[in-house]
Amino acid sequence: MSDSAVKTILGADAVGHRAAVVGAGHTRFGTLDAGPRALLRSAVDEAFATVDRGVERSLVGEAFLATLGFGGWQIGNASAVLAEEAGLGGVPTTRIENACASGGSAIRAAVRAVESAGRGLVLVAGLEKMTDVSNARRRYWLGVSGDTEWERSAGLTFAGVYGLIAARYLSEHHVGPEALEEVAVKNHANGALNPKAQFQKPVTREQVRAAPRVADPLGLFDCCPVSDGAAALLLAPAATARQFTDTPVYIDGVGAGSDSLAVQERPELTRFGASRWAADEAFHAAGVSHSDISFLEVHDCFTIAELLALEDLGFAPPGGAGPLTLEGATRRDGRWPVNPDGGLKAKGHPIGATGVSQAYEVFLQLRGAAGPRQVPNAHHALTHNVGGAGATANVTIFSVG
Ligand code: COA
Repeated sequence: MSDSAVKTILGADAVGHRAAVVGAGHTRFGTLDAGPRALLRSAVDEAFATVDRGVERSLVGEAFLATLGFGGWQIGNASAVLAEEAGLGGVPTTRIENACASGGSAIRAAVRAVESAGRGLVLVAGLEKMTDVSNARRRYWLGVSGDTEWERSAGLTFAGVYGLIAARYLSEHHVGPEALEEVAVKNHANGALNPKAQFQKPVTREQVRAAPRVADPLGLFDCCPVSDGAAALLLAPAATARQFTDTPVYIDGVGAGSDSLAVQERPELTRFGASRWAADEAFHAAGVSHSDISFLEVHDCFTIAELLALEDLGFAPPGGAGPLTLEGATRRDGRWPVNPDGGLKAKGHPIGATGVSQAYEVFLQLRGAAGPRQVPNAHHALTHNVGGAGATANVTIFSVG
């Protein structure tokens, strides 16, 4: 394997609250009848409705839309649809497309806008409508977010790439698939408590093991599904957030990184440099350490990705995420609960919406409003959102109080 051409996107500077989430909305994820505009409207309306002391839409000065435009619903200029459906009349609006990391990248852009532009509130939304196209068209739209020169032309799908990574991981660490199975069982159990999740039924290790293979060693329950859905956040400058609510959820650190699009260009298959750099930057900016984090929302597009995330983010050494998972540390009552909302695995993965959806879960959890899936005494949370098979990544650290 040749040396990878890697590049980080840096920018960490001052430590402290950078912006605050004061409202958040989320549609159900799954196979939905509603079209893209209606999904967007529903998530945005809920975000405005959750602002405790209310907010005039005229206070929003900028908007960002994360979407791949899956199926070609609006390939160009989609951000105008956000401003239109949100009733924002004339504000600057920008579409962010970083494949499955689009939502995290849009949050990062929104934080920068809050910090730099003095524009008041900033709306950030994520959206994808994936289920209304044929299987062939779906494969095309997923495929164009990966390397098309070598991987796709050789017939590799995302499940195929992650299957290769999983096989390599198991052989490097001389372990069986038990930890992968446990990720699926845990995330389905969490999804069963989330009324907005695509799958709301628990599965057993036996069901996971017996399921049809998709890309060995990954079976059906190791894969995220194909989903429709939208999510939205309202961000305010940290200094003014308490005008809107007594419990703002602060964004303390944002980090991002990138890597070669094709995994064959990287020095190792089982570590994502983009995630590691994003985590370093976010922890540095937030001025906190791993022991401060109460729970994580990580990008488990395939079960192997959750194990890689725990290692790349520094919560386990290489090969250590499996034992951590099997001993229960990532369950809701464990030391570091991971994906209490069900993750991409059970909640669903409408591409552009996912990163924003992770922040929505943080908004609920840090305000103690997550109902039966509430993580007790949560005060800091980390979200991790990956594009492609590790080509782009975002990490965001939040706090409350
Ligand atoms: N997990 C659990 N169950 C799933 C599932 C998943 N990921 N995907 C589908 N199912 C269930 C369906 O609910 C359905 O159940 P039912 O028969 O009880 O109604 C059944 O499996 C068949 O569903 P279907 O939609 O026909 O499955 P499929 O074989 O067409 O697709 C995958 C299954 C895994 C191939 C598809 O979900 C997939 O491609 N996922 C990955 C998407 C992706 O790559 N995203 C980008 C990540 S980087």
